[in-house]
Amino acid sequence: MEDQSFQTLGEFIIDKQEDFMYSTGELSRLLSAIRLASKMVNRQVNKAGIANIIGKAGNDNIQGEAQQKLDVLANEIFIEALSQREVVCGIASEENDDFMQIRTSHNAHLGKYVVLIDPLDGSSNIDVNVSVGTIFSIYRRVSEPGTPVVLEDFLQKGVNQVAAGYVVYGSSTMIVFTTGNGVNGFTLDPSLGTYYLSHPNMQFPKSGNIYSINEGNYAKFPQGVKKYLKYCQQEEGDRPYTSRYIGSLVSDFHRNMIKGGIYIYPSTSQSPNGKLRLLYECNPMAFITEQAGGKCTDGFQRIMEIEPTELHQRVPFFCGSTTMVDKAEEFMRELE
Ligand code: AHG
Ligand code: MN
Ligand code: MN
Repeated sequence: MEDQSFQTLGEFIIDKQEDFMYSTGELSRLLSAIRLASKMVNRQVNKAGIANIIGKAGNDNIQGEAQQKLDVLANEIFIEALSQREVVCGIASEENDDFMQIRTSHNAHLGKYVVLIDPLDGSSNIDVNVSVGTIFSIYRRVSEPGTPVVLEDFLQKGVNQVAAGYVVYGSSTMIVFTTGNGVNGFTLDPSLGTYYLSHPNMQFPKSGNIYSINEGNYAKFPQGVKKYLKYCQQEEGDRPYTSRYIGSLVSDFHRNMIKGGIYIYPSTSQSPNGKLRLLYECNPMAFITEQAGGKCTDGFQRIMEIEPTELHQRVPFFCGSTTMVDKAEEFMRELE
């Protein structure tokens, strides 16, 4: 019989409930709702090729990006699972213009958590059978419980996150998350529909030899990034590094966390704030990164300390093994 961990995600959540910062069982129920939704999205992703759900949905999201059918479907599945279980009072999604109020069946606003979500990350990859993901971020509301949620409940600094995680729908499907006590990864056994603890206490290697960036934009990069890329390609010591870029943040991040590496989506001359979204992508990845011993900045400043000003705000993103991010920052400061 092959070696297998027998700790399921469900058991893990119950066992660790005592460690959660504000333990009333509500966060456990929230994580269970995300677990369920991720299995439903996984089922859709797996049959994308035969279920007429490949391709564009025919409309753009608020950021002017073409929504894929699976973007829309994944968004609906997560929102439905989170609202039906009455575990959150508000949801903000990359795919929706504004945040949503979630009322319980008694029309109250009882939940104390809000969720921010990128329901399908890397969605342009879906048509070509390349891994996609989901990213989520959970905060305690700052407004009075029992009242409707307000924008300030969502515009919180990343340091306030209670939990964050991602799902990667890849060659196997995994959920990786933190509640502020390290990072754990669970792999889905598709025949049983159960997640098992497969990657306990994940750690970003202090250094690595992979750099991930869309180099097609090279001409538009800041001087500091250009110099760092030349440094990565130089033949010296453990360099040149290997270049790996899937174009799905979740997958690029997951590989780098396991193998050691840096992911960069910098500002460009056309997009001074880069492309990635602070609240749906950068903050949750930054929380996981730091919990796994890595580093995450905008090239100068810690991502999780940035004060958000709008829901769909973008920010330059440097994330990964600490010594690699330190080096990239050194060039950014030098050539600012
Ligand atoms: P999304 O599919 O949620 O819009 O995110 C796509 C993001 C991210 O996953 C990826 O790393 C990045 O866009 C790729 O952008 P480029 O195609 O510009 O490299
Ligand atoms: Mn995304
Ligand atoms: Mn997305």
